[in-house]
Amino acid sequence: MSRTSTVTLPPTSGIHVGIIMDGNGRWAASRGLPRSAGHHAGVRTARAIVESAVRAGIGTLTLYAFSSDNWSRPTPEVNALMRLLRRSLHTESKRCLENGVRLTIVGRRDRLPAALRAAIADAEAVTARCRNLHLRVAIDYSSRDGILLAAERYAQQIARGVGPDSLTREHFGELLAEVHHDPRPVRDVDLLIRTGGEQRLSDFMLWECAYAELYFTSAMWPEFGEDELRQALRTFESRERRFGGVPAQAAS
Ligand code: IPE
Ligand code: IPE
Ligand code: MG
Repeated sequence: MSRTSTVTLPPTSGIHVGIIMDGNGRWAASRGLPRSAGHHAGVRTARAIVESAVRAGIGTLTLYAFSSDNWSRPTPEVNALMRLLRRSLHTESKRCLENGVRLTIVGRRDRLPAALRAAIADAEAVTARCRNLHLRVAIDYSSRDGILLAAERYAQQIARGVGPDSLTREHFGELLAEVHHDPRPVRDVDLLIRTGGEQRLSDFMLWECAYAELYFTSAMWPEFGEDELRQALRTFESRERRFGGVPAQAAS
């Protein structure tokens, strides 16, 4: 006689968590350090949070590392960030492989330094078979630009007679994945966390966050840790997601 065991997974298992990793500069300034020290500390936090995310059973984690609007920062800061991203991808892809984390980068690639583009290709190839967690790092990312590009692609498909007559959310999701260099469309964001005290989206996953639960914390990114991630997940579990419906109690 065969027996199937039932494993109860936590409600946060397999969810998509997005994090706007904000507050590196202020964290550094409050310690009398240069902003670059904050970005270095931020990389250490990102490393620890990825490992916590694996332990928590999160399915997809998208980290906002550099927005398209961040090009407007002073050139030395931008250059330092590009170097840091390249070096971090190099070292972190090895850790990702050890932890079974698939690493992909979303955003534009054509404006990135060639060495960073090469590091991206390398990290993605090395971790392509990992299945524990899909880690997406957003670099030169603008959600609005992505939506515009996807709309443009659809118009081109229609002109060539290859697109579906009416645009569905699924098809638009595929186009969005394509323009952001995603291997495939991701599920909608379940939980969006922003550190650093600001309560705004700063052009991050506007389409995917349609029904995301939002969690804002005043902790600066370098001081965010596993405890706070767990706290955010508990808060998420306590929320009732209605997706436009009525509360569960009223429905029964
Ligand atoms: C987030 O921290 C990292 C990036 C945007 C690259 P910030 O650099 O925005 O830090 P604050 O918000 O100025 O403190
Ligand atoms: C958002 O932070 C982008 C990243 C965390 C990469 P910003 O610091 O750039 O956002 P604003 O300017 O405060 O909205
Ligand atoms: Mg900021």
